[in-house]
Amino acid sequence: MAKVTGLEGVVAAETDIGLVDGERGHLIYRGYWAKDLAVNYSFEEAAHLLWYGSLPDGRELAALQTRLRESRKLPEQVRLLLDALPKTLPMMGVLQAVVASLATEEEAVWPPKVSQAERLTALLIAIIAYRHRSLQGLAPIDPDPELDHAANYLYMLTGERPNPDHAKALTAYLILGMEHGMNASTFSGRVTLSTQSDLFAAVSAAIGTMKGPLHGGAPSEVIAMLEEIGTKDRAEAWMRNVLENGGRLMGFGHRIYKTKDPRAEALRIVTERLTGGDPSFELALHVEETAIRLLAEYKPGRRLYTNVEFFAAAVMMAIKLPTELFTPTFTAARTVGWTAHMLEQAGINRIFRPQSTYTGRMPVFGD
Ligand code: CMC
Repeated sequence: MAKVTGLEGVVAAETDIGLVDGERGHLIYRGYWAKDLAVNYSFEEAAHLLWYGSLPDGRELAALQTRLRESRKLPEQVRLLLDALPKTLPMMGVLQAVVASLATEEEAVWPPKVSQAERLTALLIAIIAYRHRSLQGLAPIDPDPELDHAANYLYMLTGERPNPDHAKALTAYLILGMEHGMNASTFSGRVTLSTQSDLFAAVSAAIGTMKGPLHGGAPSEVIAMLEEIGTKDRAEAWMRNVLENGGRLMGFGHRIYKTKDPRAEALRIVTERLTGGDPSFELALHVEETAIRLLAEYKPGRRLYTNVEFFAAAVMMAIKLPTELFTPTFTAARTVGWTAHMLEQAGINRIFRPQSTYTGRMPVFGD
């Protein structure tokens, strides 16, 4: 009998939020192509779509923008906790701890509220920016009420008004990263919420799942790979060496996509707009092409293509986000999808409780 691993092909829930069609390379958020939302809509509009089920009209958008703006300022107890956490704790651990700490008696309610999802989404970028600056001995930057979500993130990290092209590219990345069906972290968040735990505990659980290198931790490893390869002429030998030693090429392969990941395709275009013609972009294209050829040779029939992380890394590098912020930035994006799923789960809740097949020893009968 085949080993039961990884829940491959198992349907864990019905959802109205997102469709991932791995055979056709389709990604749809509530009836809209994610790649269209990424280039034609704002972060706030896409988030409204996921949380409320429709794109906002002018009044709804303005109201959401106001609510997000008002939630961007860090509460005092969050600052105190951020200052108290060990400097050696990586950002994903910081996010997990701080988000869990928001589940005060007042906030740990059932069912979760969409206002909590909005507040947490706004707060996360402020938490990342505060921590990042404080580790460098820099004073925190207050949010700028004139800037939208993505631009504010860059502003609060650097203290400088961002280049509009960078803010646009980041918006596209954040929208493409928002939602992806029953991926590991969304599943983990829904499982936690299904026990009637609170939204903050569920997001904290999802963050812990997100950080692994097989999921959200991949983009920094993509950068490490591109840096180690360094020049086009070294790419093939470097990747052959990894594959011959049973290793994995980061930014390639996907449980669901058996064709090109539409997010990778969209982000390639975004990256090209920012860095087309640069040696770093040329190297990324060459590595992509070589990797797909080598994966077909070493893993025939597995249909391994570029996944979102490969060009996510390229976009984040192009807008000068430090590598240690890649996975936290993915987390800031996916929080919208996680919380939309948690709100949906609460509406139809039944606790997740699968079975396992016992393969251990049995007691000796008849003694
Ligand atoms: N490089 C080399 N071989 C690979 C790769 C890769 N990137 N991905 C899959 N394979 C091989 C794997 O070795 C296995 O071969 P064999 O059958 O000979 O043992 C076969 O393909 C199937 O792999 P699997 O691990 O059973 O596939 P999975 O569906 O469990 O894993 C994955 C999906 C994304 C974890 C995997 O493709 C991988 O490790 N990729 C590299 C890490 C990465 O880029 N992660 C980001 C994923 S996209 C964003 C997200 O979901 O967060």
